[in-house]
Amino acid sequence: MNAKTMIAVLTTGDGRTELGRIAVPRPGPKQVLIKVVVAAQNPTDWKTTMNFKQWGNVVGCDFAGIVVELGQEVDEEFIQPGHRVASFVHGAVDLNGSFAEYLVSPAHLLIKIPDHLSFENAAQVPIASLTACQCLFKSLSLPVPLEKTDQHTDSTTIGDILIWGGNTSVGRIAIQLAKMSGVKRIVSTSSPENFEALKKLGVTQVFDYRDHKAGQKINSYTGGKLRIAMDCIGEGTTPFQVSEALSAGGGTISVLNPYLSRKNGVETIHSLGYTLLGQAFEFPCVYEPRSGELEFGTKMTRMVSGLLVEKRLRLSPVRIIPRGLAGVVEGFDIMKRGKANHEKIVYRIADTPPVTSGPDLYF
Ligand SMILES: NC(=O)c1ccc[n+]([C@@H]2O[C@H](COP(=O)([O-])OP(=O)(O)OC[C@H]3O[C@@H](n4cnc5c(N)ncnc54)[C@H](OP(=O)(O)O)[C@@H]3O)[C@@H](O)[C@H]2O)c1
Repeated sequence: MNAKTMIAVLTTGDGRTELGRIAVPRPGPKQVLIKVVVAAQNPTDWKTTMNFKQWGNVVGCDFAGIVVELGQEVDEEFIQPGHRVASFVHGAVDLNGSFAEYLVSPAHLLIKIPDHLSFENAAQVPIASLTACQCLFKSLSLPVPLEKTDQHTDSTTIGDILIWGGNTSVGRIAIQLAKMSGVKRIVSTSSPENFEALKKLGVTQVFDYRDHKAGQKINSYTGGKLRIAMDCIGEGTTPFQVSEALSAGGGTISVLNPYLSRKNGVETIHSLGYTLLGQAFEFPCVYEPRSGELEFGTKMTRMVSGLLVEKRLRLSPVRIIPRGLAGVVEGFDIMKRGKANHEKIVYRIADTPPVTSGPDLYF
């Protein structure tokens, strides 16, 4: 490993980003140094940049790349230099992010990329799939696909689930996982032009989320018996709409953005992908590692790797932003304006032009 410095997208501390050069990170125990090939964008990238106002942090979470070096205590049976891997880090809160030439990643969350899958397609998988796993298999206790267990022998007993916001990155993968898990009927919401695409992923019935009666209509469609839901939006009117869809006796909503329901008998359970990294953090909330979280992350990572090998996950089309990391301002703008539709925004690191200005940090 010869490079000592690298190009990275850095926070400016006032909600913006700029390209700069910083030192290449070193892998600590149980960590792996990765050369990032493609980084994928998620809403959290611009939201954290906007709301965690620190200068000089590296932006970006999702990545696909090549293992360069192993830290101490990494299982060499499982991972070796040269392997193609994908995962995510907690971007924009410190000096480690995926919008950079290199990053360090905890070894336990590395998804191995099968030969048939491109870096561009693989980069979109980690946050969306592992967060969907938290919601479905932890918060809602659905049976884990590919896992043989006595716990849920009769899969048909899992009747209906509502996945609100089926056309989100997390929603599209959650729909497929819920179907593999054995759920009988998956109800969802999207814009009308995406109804057919969601049905192809496994949704039974889709409703337009802009219809203010969508919650009531889902309640009728499910015969007033809906008990479990996953809310992939959790903002604006959705907390009310999702609660309205549930049975009169209430139920459980797994949420990506935290809220409390005003409806009697409705429990909301918030999942946060970052907890799977097994590290403490202070943004977007204060978190200390909990027992079992790292093991759950490892188990879900292996399961997702298996689904990719078997080509069982349908991925979204990608939108490659020109000029690599120099295009992040444009990519943020597209996402903030809601113009990404079902395309996943990705950056090829090698497309980034040489950096001639911007901060030169730490050396
Ligand atoms: N807690 C966590 O760890 C975690 C992890 C990942 C994401 N998140 C959060 O979860 C949310 C979704 O993230 P994402 O990356 O999956 O989303 P995304 O891919 O950016 O989702 C975009 C899609 O959302 C749909 N949408 C917008 N408003 C909607 C509404 N009111 N009801 C239903 N669908 C709506 C639109 O579908 P149409 O095109 O059909 O209109 C749009 O195409 C974000 O707030 C993100 O910050 C949290």
